[in-house]
Amino acid sequence: MHHFKYNNGSLACENVSLETIAAEQGTPTYVYSGATILNNYRNLDSALSELDHEVAYAVKANSNLSILQLLAKEGAGFDIVSAGELYRVIKAGGDPKKCTFAGVGKTREEIEFALQHEIYSFNVESLEELSFINDIAGELNKVAQVAIRVNPNVDAKTHKYISTGKSENKFGVDFEFIEDAYKNAHTNFKNIKLHGLQMHIGSQLTDVKPFVEAVEKVAPIAQKLKDLYNIEFFSIGGGIGIVYDPALESGDQAWWDSQSEDERPLTAELYAQKVTPVLKKLGLKILVEPGRYIAGNAGVLLTKCLYEKKGNAKTFKVVDAGMNDLIRPALYEGFHEIHALNEDLEKDAINADVVGPICETGDFFCQNRDVANLQAGDHYALFSAGAYGFVMASNYNTRGLPTEILVTGDDYKVIRKRQLWDDILEAELEGLS
Ligand code: LLP
Repeated sequence: MHHFKYNNGSLACENVSLETIAAEQGTPTYVYSGATILNNYRNLDSALSELDHEVAYAVKANSNLSILQLLAKEGAGFDIVSAGELYRVIKAGGDPKKCTFAGVGKTREEIEFALQHEIYSFNVESLEELSFINDIAGELNKVAQVAIRVNPNVDAKTHKYISTGKSENKFGVDFEFIEDAYKNAHTNFKNIKLHGLQMHIGSQLTDVKPFVEAVEKVAPIAQKLKDLYNIEFFSIGGGIGIVYDPALESGDQAWWDSQSEDERPLTAELYAQKVTPVLKKLGLKILVEPGRYIAGNAGVLLTKCLYEKKGNAKTFKVVDAGMNDLIRPALYEGFHEIHALNEDLEKDAINADVVGPICETGDFFCQNRDVANLQAGDHYALFSAGAYGFVMASNYNTRGLPTEILVTGDDYKVIRKRQLWDDILEAELEGLS
């Protein structure tokens, strides 16, 4: 569910016309719906209501301060992967005591910063890291609350670059060694409090079964760790997938009813319904770390058509956004719906590649797809770009980072201004002789 639809022939985010935003703010521009973000957060939160739980938003998905502020006001926790993200959460008014710090390569500076702010938990990925955190905590006269991340060796059945829960992935401590890791930590590390257990098997899971498999496999360990070390929480990670391709989903109830459970898109309700029975028995606080589920469908990237280029083999629509603005199609062959802002133009489809201005063949948003036949000056919206969109943008080809906009009802606000050439060059100017 999201708040982007045609309103009197013009694509709108909530009650604001995207054509107005494109005209007033230029392109490429990310536009987010505050209502969609809150709706997604509340939906998951209420689906998990039978559990003592916390939704810790995965900041990496979309870390704009205003988005974090929106979720902080709602009472969300935050899953961070760098001290920079913790710094953002604090600036946005989020509570460090509700932050979990994940990632395989935490540095001394990051650990110190997180200890100073008394975060809820370090999600530790190796015994070496645990030992390092223990030493630093000792130096600072603090006790670090930690969870060790278990790698359950479960196939998440998602893209290989975003699958994390198999033994061959770099993440977590192998399932076979996890109990020993806790024993070792308990015996050897005095500045550590064993506070929880964590896992995360991958991202963009569209099938509930791997989640259930992982939870069923790891829950008995969580129970043991609770009995032995009195741990307080079990984080089951993020990863709930969203529908990128509407051909895979239909709002039609008859269609929905006619599908077997396996064929229906994953919903928060189904996810919660399947994991709750196993988790409830544990009597632990359950954390979830969704990123994409909260922000993915809450954003679009607006882009202007610059040229139509007809080649021998195909037609290209050249637009002003590139892979530096939204890298998902290039990196994961990610699918993003593409629609014209002007609904009339949707009636005239053409089979084309929508491509950016970057000097790489991988710089495309779709290939051989029927899209609205736009002419120069018309605009497309690339859908489901709210997660892993702006945050993965770069200055490749010395292109400024795009504007970000947050819509709330009838109003919109610039929440990140467009990056200009001077902003890009600033850090280099001193190096000129
Ligand atoms: N927790 C941990 C430990 C993670 O590594 C991640 C994502 C999450 C939570 C949040 O996962 P989510 O709920 O958003 O699926 N750039 C890729 C996705 C990378 C995900 C990395 N880790 C993409 O655009 O598809």
